[in-house]
Amino acid sequence: MLNPSKPRIAIAGATGRVGATLTALLAADPIDLVALTRQPSTARLPEGVVTFKVDFKRADMLEGALRGIDRLFIAHGTSLEQVANEIALINAAVASGVRHIVKLSALGPATRLLPIAWHMQIEAHLAQQPIASTVLRPSTFSHVLKRLGPHIAAGSWTGAAGNGRVNFIDTRDVAEVARIALLEEIEPASQRAYHLSGPRAWTMDQVAEELARLLGHPVTYVDRPPAEQRDALLGAGLAPLVADLLVGLDQMFRESVIAETTSTVEELTGKAPRSLTEWLTDNLDVFRA
Ligand SMILES: NC(=O)c1ccc[n+]([C@@H]2O[C@H](COP(=O)([O-])OP(=O)(O)OC[C@H]3O[C@@H](n4cnc5c(N)ncnc54)[C@H](OP(=O)(O)O)[C@@H]3O)[C@@H](O)[C@H]2O)c1
Repeated sequence: MLNPSKPRIAIAGATGRVGATLTALLAADPIDLVALTRQPSTARLPEGVVTFKVDFKRADMLEGALRGIDRLFIAHGTSLEQVANEIALINAAVASGVRHIVKLSALGPATRLLPIAWHMQIEAHLAQQPIASTVLRPSTFSHVLKRLGPHIAAGSWTGAAGNGRVNFIDTRDVAEVARIALLEEIEPASQRAYHLSGPRAWTMDQVAEELARLLGHPVTYVDRPPAEQRDALLGAGLAPLVADLLVGLDQMFRESVIAETTSTVEELTGKAPRSLTEWLTDNLDVFRA
C-alpha cells in the first residue's frame, strides 16, 4: 500500500545494472518505491518494494502502474524496442501526473551511432513534455569490459579502438547520482542534464597494462581495422546488431569522443568517482581463467 505523505518513486529497469543498485540504495530511504518490470516472477527486489508488471505496448497498464507516482527513473536495456518503450513510458508518466522523470541516457556527440542515436530521439521527446526532467549522460560503463573476461584470462583481446582514450564510469556512481537526482526537490519546469564520468580516460593499452599488473600475468590489447573486427565478431556468433554496436563503440573510443572527465559525480555525491582500477579489482575473478 502506498503512503500518500511520502515521495513515491517508480523505477523502470529496477532489475538492471544501474537500476538494481539504485533500488537497493532507495530501499533505505523514507520513500515509497515501485519497480516496473516485464517479469515480476523472476525479479529479485529488496523487501518493501512494490512490483508492477508492465507491457510497454499497453498504455493503460503503464498508466495504471504510474498512477500516484511523483517521480520516475527510466533505465532501459539496449534493444531495438528501446525508443518505442521509453517513449511509451514517458507518455504514460505525463498522462498519470508524474512530476519528474530522471532518464538514463549516454554521454557522446550528436551521432548516427547506436545506442546514442536512440537516446537522442528519446531525449528530444522528453524535452517536449510539460513536466520536469533530468537526463543522466554517463560515459562508458566499466562493466563493458566484462564481455572480454575469457580473452583477458587467456592473455589478450582484440578490438578496433586504436590508441584512442575512453573514460570509464562505475555504474555504482551512476546509481548514486540517480538517487540524488530523484530525491532532490526541483522546479516543476526544470530540465537538466548531468554529464557523468569516472576520474580519467584510458587507452586500451593502458587498460591492458593495468590488468596485467592486477592479474600478475601479461595481458595485451591487439588492434585491427573496424571491418576485420566486425567480421571477427560475426564469426564468433554475435548478431549483426550487437557487432555493429561494438564496432561503433570502438569507433568512439578510437576518436576519443567519450574521453571527457567531468566533476559532476563528485559535486553531486560529495566523493570522487570510483576508478577503473577499483572496478577491475572488485571484478577481478571475471578476468581469471
Ligand atoms: N554500457 C555502457 O557503457 C553505457 C554507457 C552509458 C549509457 N548506457 C545506457 O545505459 C542503459 C543500460 O543501463 P543498464 O546497463 O543499467 O541496463 P540493463 O541492465 O541492460 O537493462 C535495464 C532493464 O531494462 C529492462 N528492459 C525493458 N525492456 C527491455 C528490452 N527490450 N531489452 C532489454 N532490457 C529491457 C529490463 O528490466 P525487466 O526485465 O525487469 O523488464 C532490464 O533489467 C542503456 O540505455 C545504455 O544506452 C550504457
